[in-house]
Amino acid sequence: MKTDTAATTAPTIRLQDYTPPAWWIDTVNLDIVIADTGTTVTARLALRRNADQPRQPLVLDGAELDTLSVTVDGQPTPFLATPDTLTVEQLPDTCTLTTVVRIQPDQNTCLSGLYRSKDGYFTQCEAQGFRRITWFLDRPDVMSVYTVTLHADKARFPVLLANGNPVAAGEHTDGTHWATWQDPFKKPCYLFAVVAGKLDVLKDTFRTASGREVQLAIYVEPGKLDQCPHAMAALKKSMQWDEERFGLECDLDHYMIVAVGDFNMGAMENKGLNIFNTKYVLARPDVATDVDFENIDRVVAHEYFHNWTGNRVTCREWFQLSLKEGLTVFRDQEFGADLHNRQTARIREVRTLRAAQFPEDAGPMAHPIRPESYIEINNFYTATVYEKGAEVIRMIQTLIGRDAFRAGMDEYFRRHDGQAVTCEDFVAAMAAASGFDFSQFMRWYKQPGTPRVTVDGHFDAESRSYTLTCTQTNPKASDAANNPAPYLIPLRVALFSEAGTLLPGSERTLHLSAHSQSFVFDHIDAEPIPSLLRDFSAPVYLDFDYTPDQLTLLLAHESDPFNAWDAGQRLATRLILDAAEAIAAGRAPHWPEAFVAACRRLLQTQAERGSAFVAEALTLPGEGTLAELMPVVDPDALHAARNALRRHLAEQLEGEFAGLYAALTVAEPYAPSAEQAGRRALRNVCLAYLLETDADAYRQLAATQFRTADNMTDQFAALAALANVTTDPCPQREQALADFYTRWQHEALVVDKWLQVQSTSRRADTLSTVRALTAHPAFDAGNPNKIYALIRAFGANLVRFHAADGSGYAFMAERVLDLQDKNPQVASRLARSFDRWKQFDTGRQAHARAALERICNHPGLARDVLEVVSRALG
Ligand code: TRP
Ligand code: ZN
Repeated sequence: MKTDTAATTAPTIRLQDYTPPAWWIDTVNLDIVIADTGTTVTARLALRRNADQPRQPLVLDGAELDTLSVTVDGQPTPFLATPDTLTVEQLPDTCTLTTVVRIQPDQNTCLSGLYRSKDGYFTQCEAQGFRRITWFLDRPDVMSVYTVTLHADKARFPVLLANGNPVAAGEHTDGTHWATWQDPFKKPCYLFAVVAGKLDVLKDTFRTASGREVQLAIYVEPGKLDQCPHAMAALKKSMQWDEERFGLECDLDHYMIVAVGDFNMGAMENKGLNIFNTKYVLARPDVATDVDFENIDRVVAHEYFHNWTGNRVTCREWFQLSLKEGLTVFRDQEFGADLHNRQTARIREVRTLRAAQFPEDAGPMAHPIRPESYIEINNFYTATVYEKGAEVIRMIQTLIGRDAFRAGMDEYFRRHDGQAVTCEDFVAAMAAASGFDFSQFMRWYKQPGTPRVTVDGHFDAESRSYTLTCTQTNPKASDAANNPAPYLIPLRVALFSEAGTLLPGSERTLHLSAHSQSFVFDHIDAEPIPSLLRDFSAPVYLDFDYTPDQLTLLLAHESDPFNAWDAGQRLATRLILDAAEAIAAGRAPHWPEAFVAACRRLLQTQAERGSAFVAEALTLPGEGTLAELMPVVDPDALHAARNALRRHLAEQLEGEFAGLYAALTVAEPYAPSAEQAGRRALRNVCLAYLLETDADAYRQLAATQFRTADNMTDQFAALAALANVTTDPCPQREQALADFYTRWQHEALVVDKWLQVQSTSRRADTLSTVRALTAHPAFDAGNPNKIYALIRAFGANLVRFHAADGSGYAFMAERVLDLQDKNPQVASRLARSFDRWKQFDTGRQAHARAALERICNHPGLARDVLEVVSRALG
């Protein structure tokens, strides 16, 4: 297919250039005829000149449209069409513009606009896909009421869906049928959706708090109905939760979810007609893991929550993306925490933030949660906009409290329902409801980079006081011409005694607002141990010069589970980084007995502390997170050090791991409950440690678990542990991989797991395995899920992707170039694998630069990829 190329169109779009639209489109009437020769779209737009703006011609957006006719109020009209604009000069202040275009969804490989997946047709319009369907003002501040009629072959496409309510349907004489849908709500075109296909449906209903009945439906590929009930239950729970927590009721008569196997992202909140990646709908205990079940809960909730935060109140332009995404992620996180396990939910949120967002914020694609410029908006659906955006919303709640936050949400909807607004509007509603002054806080929206807060503690016996001095720096903002302004940082703290008790009255939320600031605690009788950044109250790096004994004490006694966990992560981080240095210098690493003892205590206290928590606490920080802390990353030494610590723990605690493994068996029938999931998680952590010993007995144990498991969580955990075995021969590994594929080759989502477990293996032969798998029938070079599982996951395999000979980089460059004109969005995500290349030694940098230049110099490179690689090189 043909796509916009960098050479023809790569202007930089800037927030400061925003101007309101010169025209409004009040109603849209679409007639869509799907046929083998292409799809014909007739659009009738009710136009109204925006009287508040200077008079301007109408300039509509389009891409790859074959224009058949343009009329105004029924009369042919002169117009000027370029590949991406349609200009009509002379128009009355109100009129109806009708365009007829032909599009080719069967040739649409970028999965934006209307496209074919298997035997059905689906749409994806966010951010700018609607222009690939018809000429339009493709911007979120233009909101319209839609009526849509779909026509297609009745036998091949019995299901015809669009946003809103079905109002009429019928048959033509040629074997085709039609259906008309009306969406009563004004919406921006990015929320438009249609679906045509042969789909099975699971139906249900939900009665809202005010007594309205909503028809619920989940549409899936035939044969998959038995994998829908979990998503349906998640939908109903989300609807209930949003009423209880935020007083928000569903405004729709019909709420539909459609699952599709070819989808660039997770899911899409189209009004009343969500379209989902199958990955976030389909689940059954034998094919989905505990983590999959939990992710489905959160993504279903996320898209449902968008109905208020995103759809009823939407974004003025795409720079405001975090207005809806950060807020909606915060909401789905809170829902997940209430539904599952609040303590481990928070730990996992921080783990992903540190693994994905901190590196992004330190690299070439760093941007504030509200970017100020972009070349391709699709490149800004990032961990920063989503995950850091959610942290910023969470800080607002921390600063003003939960009740004021709820009042602020109420005020936000009271002021802005039906509007397209900005992040300032959201914060102003919060300010109005709370009286809090957010002027300094707004810097979180404007400055990129992860701030670093360095804390010093000083105990004064004479005055019986303890002083915390906090200094904040922002390495990223400090390259800016003007001195980086300090953030307002909520820092939750508490003080502990040497005996591990929380000092009464010492729990506070400090408001850091200056570069450097001191806070005094009175009536302190002995040097306390401060616990800082409890519950991860701000997205920062926090430095305090803890002794290992202090961290060990916090790990054992801190009542805030996040900070207990983080104390353990700090201990392990220090050991691994020291060991990496030793290994690089040819010395043997040293593992203190105290750390082993702390881990032993965790295992012994799992009943009190909860299996889920202990599983998290025994999981060492990831290589990517650790790499961020090294001035020059030595991936081989880091990898060796981390694995050596795992092996050391396995050898020292073999009896404990084996004992818990035996004790934690889940006897009840499988349920994806927090309690069962916690037990399985810890049991599988034990298994993975046991395999570090290389003893054949444990490989046998894993093989047995693999064979006898009645659920995917346990089966896959055994497979993953075996796939990571590096000392050959390991016949159990070969056997499990072969059996898994044979058994699951017809379940696409399980095949993704099979690909990913191989691409993320630490084995030295991983790249050659991945290369071979690109030619395997299991792989499909056009399917995003397959590409993410095999290629992007390899890019996140630190030690293998960053191989010293540059082979990983060369491979990734090939894949990016192979994909860039077929699916620029996904190719661009692959190109992000190179982000941190400048953190490595000069040898690796030379290879990475060569690979990046090869991509960059490719003629006609998609601008999505061009933006990423030119920022990486620049
Ligand atoms: N708005 C979607 C969400 O966060 C994200 C999304 C789905 C998307 N598909 C996309 C963004 C395609 C860009 C392109 O729920
Ligand atoms: Zn979203």
